[in-house]
Amino acid sequence: MYLLVILLWVSAVLAGSQTVSTDGIINLVKRRLPDHAGDFEFRFIGNVTEFPLTGQPAIDEYSVSSTPDGKILVEGNSPIALASGLHRYLTDTLHIDIWWYIGSRLDLAPESLPPLDVPMNGTSVVPWRYFFNTVTFSYTAAFWTWEDWELELDWLALRGVNLPLAWVGYEKTLLDTFKELGMTDAEIPPFFSGPAFQAWNRFGNIQGSWEGELPMEWIDNQFELQKNITTRMVELGMTPVLPCITGFVPSAITRVLPNAMVVNGSQWDGFPVEYTDVAFLEPVDPAFAELQKSFISKQAAAYGNITHIYTLDQYIENTPYSGDLDYLRNVSYSTSQSLKSADPDAIWLMQGWLFFEDEAFWNSDRIEAYLGGVENNDDMLVLDLFSESVPQWQRTNSYFGKPWIWCQLHDYGQNMGLYGQIMNVTINPIDALATSPSLVGFGLSMEGQEGNEIMYDLLLDQAWSGSPIETETYFHNWVTRRYAGNGSIPDQLYSGWESMRSTVYNNTDLSNAKAVTRSILEISPNITGMVGRTVQNGGTTVNYDPEVLVSAFHTMFYAANTNPALWENPAYLYDMVDVTRQVYSNYFLSSYLSLISAYNSTPHSNATIAAAAQNITNILNTLDSVLSTNSAFSLSTWLNAARSMTTNETLADFYEYNARNQITLWGPNGEISDYASKSWGGLANGYYLPRWEIFFNYLEETEIGSYNETALNERLFQFELPWQNSTSVHGSPMGPSGSLQSILNGLVGSLGSR
Ligand SMILES: *[C@@H]1O[C@H](CO)[C@@H](O)[C@H](O)[C@H]1NC(C)=O
Ligand SMILES: *[C@@H]1O[C@H](CO)[C@@H](O)[C@H](O)[C@H]1NC(C)=O
Ligand SMILES: *[C@@H]1O[C@H](CO)[C@@H](O)[C@H](O)[C@H]1NC(C)=O
Ligand SMILES: *[C@@H]1O[C@H](CO)[C@@H](O)[C@H](O)[C@H]1NC(C)=O
Ligand SMILES: *[C@@H]1O[C@H](CO)[C@@H](O)[C@H](O)[C@H]1NC(C)=O
Ligand SMILES: *[C@@H]1O[C@H](CO)[C@@H](O)[C@H](O)[C@H]1NC(C)=O
Ligand SMILES: *[C@@H]1O[C@H](CO)[C@@H](O)[C@H](O)[C@H]1NC(C)=O
Ligand SMILES: *[C@@H]1O[C@H](CO)[C@@H](O)[C@H](O)[C@H]1NC(C)=O
Ligand SMILES: *[C@@H]1O[C@H](CO)[C@@H](O)[C@H](O)[C@H]1NC(C)=O
Ligand SMILES: *[C@@H]1O[C@H](CO)[C@@H](O)[C@H](O)[C@H]1NC(C)=O
Ligand SMILES: *[C@@H]1O[C@H](CO)[C@@H](O)[C@H](O)[C@H]1NC(C)=O
Ligand SMILES: *[C@@H]1O[C@H](CO)[C@@H](O)[C@H](O)[C@H]1NC(C)=O
Repeated sequence: MYLLVILLWVSAVLAGSQTVSTDGIINLVKRRLPDHAGDFEFRFIGNVTEFPLTGQPAIDEYSVSSTPDGKILVEGNSPIALASGLHRYLTDTLHIDIWWYIGSRLDLAPESLPPLDVPMNGTSVVPWRYFFNTVTFSYTAAFWTWEDWELELDWLALRGVNLPLAWVGYEKTLLDTFKELGMTDAEIPPFFSGPAFQAWNRFGNIQGSWEGELPMEWIDNQFELQKNITTRMVELGMTPVLPCITGFVPSAITRVLPNAMVVNGSQWDGFPVEYTDVAFLEPVDPAFAELQKSFISKQAAAYGNITHIYTLDQYIENTPYSGDLDYLRNVSYSTSQSLKSADPDAIWLMQGWLFFEDEAFWNSDRIEAYLGGVENNDDMLVLDLFSESVPQWQRTNSYFGKPWIWCQLHDYGQNMGLYGQIMNVTINPIDALATSPSLVGFGLSMEGQEGNEIMYDLLLDQAWSGSPIETETYFHNWVTRRYAGNGSIPDQLYSGWESMRSTVYNNTDLSNAKAVTRSILEISPNITGMVGRTVQNGGTTVNYDPEVLVSAFHTMFYAANTNPALWENPAYLYDMVDVTRQVYSNYFLSSYLSLISAYNSTPHSNATIAAAAQNITNILNTLDSVLSTNSAFSLSTWLNAARSMTTNETLADFYEYNARNQITLWGPNGEISDYASKSWGGLANGYYLPRWEIFFNYLEETEIGSYNETALNERLFQFELPWQNSTSVHGSPMGPSGSLQSILNGLVGSLGSR
């Protein structure tokens, strides 16, 4: 055994790759459980995975047991297997965890760690557990500090993720690559999009920035941040997926390469031509491979030779220049060859989103041609991006044999509705595993990290279970660790979550709601077209009886009578805000319908319109006060994070503009307005309420026959546009406006059946 380890180590050193080490997991324990640094022992066993991988890792295995001298021994065949074993002990035995928006609760571990009478063990059912969507880097992480990243990466490691995307800082390497070609500072930076919009520039959907240019300071700082991120990912035993050259280039490239084969990408979502129609350097052009080599060697020089897996998407919401089968095959063949020339072990990771999003273009022949250009199946890895609702792997015959990953997308634009598909997320990936020989991983591809954290946990845990997880027990155990630190957890919390499990989180009506919903309070007011939207992004149809949620609210609220310490528990505070938010979002519907019926009744009475309007105003004000008690639900958190990225006030204004614009108008003139809407304190009464007030006035002034949507929208825009540029959170203090407990005490009586 020892000899084998030494041999592995020697061969790893000879190959120039890093040997695996337990340093990452030991450091994680020191960070999160400093009092217990000496209480755990980590040891590699079995066929230990080496890094950087050339190909696929082995199935992960761990076991956790107690040593005679009272330590907790975690053994596993990779650093992530060790992290998964540690997590199992922390969650199942100590009932503690680390959470989005709440932070690490691992400091609640008891002074003396309970020993294990029976060892625990686990085996992953898939070699890969993937995480992130390219757009998560903008919707969620645009303004993250290193501290935010540290929490995120610990969350990922403990939950067994071994294949995270790592996009941060891309622009620096890209800039240097273009500069080497002879392009100038006047030609390259104007191509980049603003700090909150980089994801879509990376996809080739948009180019350039409105209201200011991406500054060098940003580009440099992000590059430095990425050094920390990739170093930590590697230390924890993950395989980072790094960017590369996609083909999207500043159009000025033709100055230095006059004969370059450059074509235009398509227009994206109604953006003005100056911001879209991005130039695409054809991969068959020899310059493409040259750029690829230059980029990848610069990237390796900066972050080390830490991966062979590269993220590369050419046609996300972007129509290929030609639908000719040979054309498509040549594009992917040349792209793949460019990667191989830069890194002989390269694997191309791509989203399968395009095949769903533009199904009319991507018929079976074209998909086969494009994927077929990559001759060796193992040189590619496809993300079946929205597997829980619109899987593409069946129709593409398992991506014609390419290895692929079953992903839960779950939400668009980090919208916030409570939502989940507990059945599909447990049953379908396991069915797929039995059916598709090239399925090699489960993953999370959310556009943003909203709430609903249990749905994300569920799929990552499913990756360690060969049969579908039984969700009733799962939710019960999850609640236990969620509210750690309370001594006992009142039964009401278990029953509140149980009623949500079988309703809110058991959506099976995919024709009405394929993903997280948004409340109509967040969308631009109108007299029709708001209720019952079934579009996948931002549908407004709620597929459960709203009374069930009201009752879950009461049950969970009264849990704090049983155990008042819950009012000090950050998980409880977060969840009560979230459930209250959804209850009010649902109430909003009936008030909206009253307003419209008041408007539609003849004779048209200002008094009845005003009465209905008052109810809407009350809901938005109440909602705002609830949301503003919690920084996770506050506009100010997002805006302050943006401003904190710089000490230069001019740049801080520009970053704040970006932050505001993404969640409201999304584009210089509202090109995809409200796509990434949020129920946040400061927005509810600072942005949405003023819009509704404009609407109320418009209704009062306008007879039914003269209703003019264009005229209404012009008025709304007169408010929406200057809001983008303001720098104070209108109508709401920057921070909590009262304690949640006293606000909810005042509300609970009125939250009955309606
Ligand atoms: C060890 O794992 C590697 C990588 O998955 C695999 O190629 C190899 O066959 C395994 N060796 C043994 C002895 O299981
Ligand atoms: C893993 O744990 C299960 C349940 O305790 C047990 O039945 C099984 O034998 C264990 N497997 C190994 C390899 O230790
Ligand atoms: C990287 O991490 C170090 C601490 O290890 C920290 O001091 C530094 O600020 C981080 N860099 C960035 C760009 O956040
Ligand atoms: C990465 O690998 C390449 C090719 O083997 C080598 O030339 C280069 O020096 C390595 N870079 C680093 C930073 O290790
Ligand atoms: C979820 O709903 C479906 C019906 O839509 C039902 O058959 C199933 O039993 C429900 N599952 C749970 C866990 O409640
Ligand atoms: C699961 O998703 C599929 C689409 O893959 C859908 O047809 C099916 O109705 C869903 N099942 C449930 C139980 O939601
Ligand atoms: C807004 O309402 C008008 C009038 O009913 C309707 O014609 C229009 O389609 C609606 N707009 C949207 C975006 O639903
Ligand atoms: C306003 O809301 C109350 C309940 O709070 C309801 O009784 C009343 O009918 C509503 N009025 C209108 C005009 O919608
Ligand atoms: C702040 O940034 C702006 C825009 O890049 C720049 O013009 C200005 O010189 C900077 N101010 C300071 C004090 O660095
Ligand atoms: C209703 O209010 C609007 C202004 O808000 C006003 O122009 C209109 O004359 C009022 N209608 C009646 C019947 O009072
Ligand atoms: C609706 O309003 C727009 C903008 O004010 C105006 O150009 C258009 O003529 C109006 N339509 C009708 C039918 O009045
Ligand atoms: C917003 O501010 C920018 C400068 O930061 C300016 O160029 C732009 O005209 C302003 N836009 C509006 C609508 O006021």
